[in-house]
Amino acid sequence: MATRSVLVTGAAGYVASVVTEQLLAQGYEVVAFDSLRTGHRAAVPPGVPLVVGDLTDPESLHRVLGARRFDAVMHMAAYTLVAESVADPGKYFSNNLGGGLNLLEAMRRHGVSRLVFSSSAGVYGEPESVPIEEDASCQPVNPYGQSKVVFEQMLDWYGRAYGLRFASLRYFNAAGATARFGEDHRPESHLIPIVLQVALGKREQISVFGIDYDTPDGSCVRDYVHVSDLAQAHVLALRHVEEGAAGVFNLGNGEGYSVLEVIECARRVTGRPIPTTPAGRRPGDPARLVASSRRARDLLGWRPRYPELEAIVSSAWDWHQRHPDGYPE
Ligand code: UFG
Repeated sequence: MATRSVLVTGAAGYVASVVTEQLLAQGYEVVAFDSLRTGHRAAVPPGVPLVVGDLTDPESLHRVLGARRFDAVMHMAAYTLVAESVADPGKYFSNNLGGGLNLLEAMRRHGVSRLVFSSSAGVYGEPESVPIEEDASCQPVNPYGQSKVVFEQMLDWYGRAYGLRFASLRYFNAAGATARFGEDHRPESHLIPIVLQVALGKREQISVFGIDYDTPDGSCVRDYVHVSDLAQAHVLALRHVEEGAAGVFNLGNGEGYSVLEVIECARRVTGRPIPTTPAGRRPGDPARLVASSRRARDLLGWRPRYPELEAIVSSAWDWHQRHPDGYPE
């Protein structure tokens, strides 16, 4: 039976807002679940019911999953900041693992057996080589990445014991925006939004965290992937799960850009100078993360539409110019 009704956890977050937009465009019915602790009400498309609830509260999950029949869950709710996870691992394990377990148990109780999970390149830690394949060893270097690895392992055991069918999507660096939805974290810690806030004159400069890495220009290298392309992969993964398949998939473009290259690209796109200042390394940051997404292309039929960094930064710039203060509160 085709999936029609989807619960999206963390639906008021950045990637989830665009996933929901695409699910609606494909004719799915979506219910949004979010604590609104880091998400924004305005990031949930109009007409989508929003249940304000918390993963760490099993009753609120029981209520939402018991209120109607869901064919699948997109589990996108999590704390996601690498540096914060190093400083406060308990916060990450309670929410991402404890809360995630509550969700799996509530799904089991209500007979929902399909899940698409937002995982992360953070599972790999400091990779032995790039581009990274999915079967590379997972040795996370921060509690955030650790929480994603352990949850993936839990999914595997739930699959074996209870028949859970899942796809785990390991995002590399989500970036860019659609016409309606963009990136707004408070406080902001991600590279591209901060660079664009400098371009807008809302910050004076951008600190470059580490200029002594073993990379061509000494700054960290990441694989930036457009949020619309990530969303496309979620819809494809849902279909894959419907067909009875399961698995983990990297989502990136296979091209690494250094922090300094991203800043240079933003100077070209915005026409603004964007001053930088060198700073110390940020705890928990691997030097290089670049994906091989061959599996997603081969098995899901994933075809990124915006693989160029310039297109990604331009879309974010359009959104930030239209929302200089982010979403309304
Ligand atoms: N950076 C700076 N200055 C800043 C902000 C960031 O130099 O002001 C650097 C970071 O040190 C890093 C790079 O820019 O080297 C990208 O940083 P982001 O914070 O934008 O993204 P991360 O790579 O740290 O993390 C993102 C997601 C994680 C995920 C990871 C996997 O937020 O969830 O990608 O690649 F685990």
